[in-house]
Amino acid sequence: MDGTRRLVVGISGATGLVYGTRVLELARKAGLETHLVVTPAGQQTRAHETDLTARDLAAMADVVYRPADIGAAIASGSFRTAGMIVAPCSIRTLSAIAHSNGDNLLTRAADVTLKERRRLVLLVRETPLTLGHLRAMTAVTECGGIVMPPVPAFYLRPRTVDEIVEHTAGRALDLLGVDVPDLPRWGE
Ligand SMILES: Cc1cc2nc3c(=O)[nH]c(=O)nc-3n(C[C@H](O)[C@H](O)[C@H](O)COP(=O)(O)O)c2cc1C
Repeated sequence: MDGTRRLVVGISGATGLVYGTRVLELARKAGLETHLVVTPAGQQTRAHETDLTARDLAAMADVVYRPADIGAAIASGSFRTAGMIVAPCSIRTLSAIAHSNGDNLLTRAADVTLKERRRLVLLVRETPLTLGHLRAMTAVTECGGIVMPPVPAFYLRPRTVDEIVEHTAGRALDLLGVDVPDLPRWGE
């Protein structure tokens, strides 16, 4: 498979699991092959925030990995991908990535994405922010990552939570150059 059609998606344990599922849905619609890793805390938020089972979530991706499987394809730079989106991204996962700490498959795959100079988009979700959080965001930005907190754009006058989530997920895919049809855009 052409690496440019492969997307790695990480779901960590910040609130907003729905951002991850919407990225998976839009990526599938756009014809991408998705490679998913969900942390144990991500599975907890899935259970808290949605009616999806772990199996339902897995069915939304083409390939699913266990977080402990640090020998999986996405742990190597030789496995070509278009990049990676972590949605939502917890502060713990942000910190691990910012400090090149590949302690599980999600953080390893993110580190590989950075070292291969591919796009890494982190939908970091926490509020308010400490200086430690901000420093981790700075560090990951210095390494080439993109910090994209899932903050709604009200100028598009969203009517539903779904519209807000879809717009953010679509903008994250935009950053990887993925064409998301019908994404509302200012001026269009
Ligand atoms: C319901 C719930 C909501 C949470 N929301 C957040 C959050 O918004 N941001 C965050 O950084 N951590 C949040 N946490 C805490 C993380 O899940 C926790 O720090 C965990 O160790 C993250 O692990 P991970 O990065 O491996 O997924 C939340 C935990 C739970 C159970």
